[in-house]
Amino acid sequence: MALVSLTIDQFRCLEHVELGFDPKYNLFVGANASGKTSLLEAVFFLGRGRSFRSRRLERIIRQGQPDFTLVGRVQHGGPPVVLGVRGARGGTEIRVGGAPAQSAADLAVHFPPQVIDPEIHKLLEEGPSRRRRFLDWGVFHVEHQFMGVWQRYYRALKQRNAALRQRGSEALAAAWDGELAQAGEQLATLRERYVAQLEPDLVRIGRQLLDLEVTVVHHRGWAAEFTLAEALQQSAERDRRYQITQVGPHRGDITVRVEGYAARERVSRGQQKLLAAALTLAQLGLQDRMAPGRSALLLDDPAAELDATNLGRIVEVVQQLPVQLFVTSLRPDLVGLGRPGALFHVEQGRIAPAA
Ligand SMILES: Nc1ncnc2c1ncn2[C@@H]1O[C@H](COP(=O)(O)OP(=O)(O)OP(=O)(O)O)[C@@H](O)[C@H]1O
Ligand SMILES: [Mg+2]
Repeated sequence: MALVSLTIDQFRCLEHVELGFDPKYNLFVGANASGKTSLLEAVFFLGRGRSFRSRRLERIIRQGQPDFTLVGRVQHGGPPVVLGVRGARGGTEIRVGGAPAQSAADLAVHFPPQVIDPEIHKLLEEGPSRRRRFLDWGVFHVEHQFMGVWQRYYRALKQRNAALRQRGSEALAAAWDGELAQAGEQLATLRERYVAQLEPDLVRIGRQLLDLEVTVVHHRGWAAEFTLAEALQQSAERDRRYQITQVGPHRGDITVRVEGYAARERVSRGQQKLLAAALTLAQLGLQDRMAPGRSALLLDDPAAELDATNLGRIVEVVQQLPVQLFVTSLRPDLVGLGRPGALFHVEQGRIAPAA
């Protein structure tokens, strides 16, 4: 059991919606612009503290309203935990179990959703920041020290970059090198270890989805033959010139390979979607093994984006994952995941009463 219920207020086109969920499979069906993706987005926001569609809260808040609120109840084994998110133009407020929480990570511990939506190919197609975010989300779920290391590294990086922007502050910038190198090595090692853990699942799912050998290579963000301390020393002059730190895990990335070749150069858009889905499903499987019974998978209109063969392959992999499903579709018969435990008919931002 993961998400038991969710109350949504003033989120996108959803004025006020109360939903009770099935622990296995929830299907939202409705016409274009009825509010299906908005419902998935709200479920995602409850666990991630952000949207998968927009970074701008003012786009997500229902037009003409000051803020949105989401209140969800999650349960796995013990007593239920209430998660709350309020989004206003100035930012989000998070509550877990009635008390204010520090960050979105506090939500994700209880309810970590993953999404496969029509934009998923961007994970491979766009710059490295999406892939770093993907990596870090995965590492967060398997390595307890991750948050501390991540925060240390990015704090040191911010301070060092601030010093680099001030003329004559070379010594101040260099004062951060020790901390940056130490936390940076740790962060890169955690990511590397995670990628090694992820790869067997990726290979297996890649085979199931594409019938090809899919592998993944991690890049630390500096030349592999040097320590980060050495790399920082070597780039000191460049760092000064460009007034920004050029090496370190903030430049880290992964390359997905298909049959040994960089996927970006080799595959079609449809295959890119399957590859990105394979990465997401591999991560979801690993995440669920670390904390069983909490994870959810959100599939936004899978039938619209994939041909019948590929949809069938995704469905097969998804059915093997013991996670709570939230799926949208124009018609109930299009998905192929069997009978939903809960079927919601969405009409103009409302859930139609059961016929
Ligand atoms: N901030 C907002 N306030 C009010 N309405 C909004 C807001 N943002 C988006 N909408 C509207 O919400 C409606 C539903 O959008 P949504 O993307 O959820 O539809 P959908 O059911 O997923 O459609 P499709 O099948 O085309 O994907 C759209 O008409 C959109 O214009
Ligand atoms: Mg949609």
